[in-house]
Amino acid sequence: MKYAHIVGWGSYLPAKVLKNAEIAKMVDTTDEWIYTRTGIKERRIAEEKETTATLAFEAAARALEVADLHPSQVELIIVATSTPEYIFPSTACRVQDYLGATKAGAFDLSAACSGFVYALSMASNAINSGMVRNAIVIGAETMSRVLDWHDRGTCILFGDGAGAVVLRHSDVPGGVLASTLRSDGSGGDLLSLPAVYHNPMPMLGPEYLHNGHKKNTIAMNGRQVFRFATSVVSDSIEQVLTQAGLTVKDISLIVPHQANVRIIESAAKKLKIPADKFFVNLERAGNTSAASIPIALCEAVDNGLLKPDDNVVFVGFGGGLTWAASVVKWNVTPPKVSLAEREWKRARYIYARSRSQAKKVIRRVGAYLAGSPTPKARMKDADRRSSNGKL
Ligand SMILES: CC(C)(COP(=O)(O)OP(=O)(O)OC[C@H]1O[C@@H](n2cnc3c(N)ncnc32)[C@H](O)[C@@H]1OP(=O)(O)O)[C@@H](O)C(=O)NCCC(=O)NCCS
Repeated sequence: MKYAHIVGWGSYLPAKVLKNAEIAKMVDTTDEWIYTRTGIKERRIAEEKETTATLAFEAAARALEVADLHPSQVELIIVATSTPEYIFPSTACRVQDYLGATKAGAFDLSAACSGFVYALSMASNAINSGMVRNAIVIGAETMSRVLDWHDRGTCILFGDGAGAVVLRHSDVPGGVLASTLRSDGSGGDLLSLPAVYHNPMPMLGPEYLHNGHKKNTIAMNGRQVFRFATSVVSDSIEQVLTQAGLTVKDISLIVPHQANVRIIESAAKKLKIPADKFFVNLERAGNTSAASIPIALCEAVDNGLLKPDDNVVFVGFGGGLTWAASVVKWNVTPPKVSLAEREWKRARYIYARSRSQAKKVIRRVGAYLAGSPTPKARMKDADRRSSNGKL
């Protein structure tokens, strides 16, 4: 059996900062209310030109740099996201193209805020079984695009960003030691994001769903989600530790999903461990859903909180309802990469984009030579048929 070690990590937060005080100009709330009830002070918001895939690419490129792996060595890319630009092509396929990861399978995984832990478990199993040798696991979200900015119960919580880890096969015991994944679909309505085509009450117009929430935006029962989260975080940590044959005493750090500092404090109390064993960066990033754990992990590593042989637990929970935990033996020290080396590695992605463009042109020329109608001609034809009443 092969072991799946985390050998690279990277995160990307958009430059634009949205502080609580600015949200207080949009909805009836205050900086103090948001901070005391959640622990959040500010979050990042993607620029118009940024997408979940571009954020995911930035995080993945940084993780590959740390892992010192060429994109062509990656055999699997999983993107955990609830905010894909398209249902298909998947965000993972776009990242594969941006990276030029020519030998990778790629797919998106939908498990809301638990998505990163679910994806980590899938990728590590693929390595354990020998199916792939190297994989990238990414959590990436543009939550700002699915928020109802008039709903003070949700718009105060979420932010945008991406985080990624590179998993590499090894004969040395360690890496992802155990994972537990759980779900309870009966609580699906407590936290939901309807799909674009889902409008069960069309008579209310295209903008509104029956529950009064705007179409394609998050609807949440905050109190019930809070209750659910406080019960599952400590339970899943205990379960995954039992599975790995460890106890909380063997754990150096817990990187939880960053939803609410009070949920984290309650879990610490239940486990009878000091709250500072949990890494928290909510204050600066808010809840970035599937991206929150890998973003927090990167910050924890940057702060020197993990050293070789430390055991770290990741624990996620969210829509579905879903919850999950993984325990990982950390055994890498971050390599020193010079600026020149970094720039040189970045040039790969310019080549990958040019190659992708060239492939698109070749496909178009091939289609033209084979007599296929151009996309423009196809649209003209559709317009003509619809004006004839045939569509
Ligand atoms: C959303 C959340 C912060 C609300 O905090 P809370 O203490 O539970 O607040 P409640 O929903 O009980 O509301 C208390 C009061 O504050 C009000 N309120 C809600 N949001 C508010 C806001 N942004 N600003 C000011 N007041 C607000 C409510 O209307 C309510 O007023 P009322 O007592 O007059 O009816 C909290 O429930 C939470 O964090 N839940 C978990 C959400 C989560 O983590 N989701 C993601 C999971 S992945």
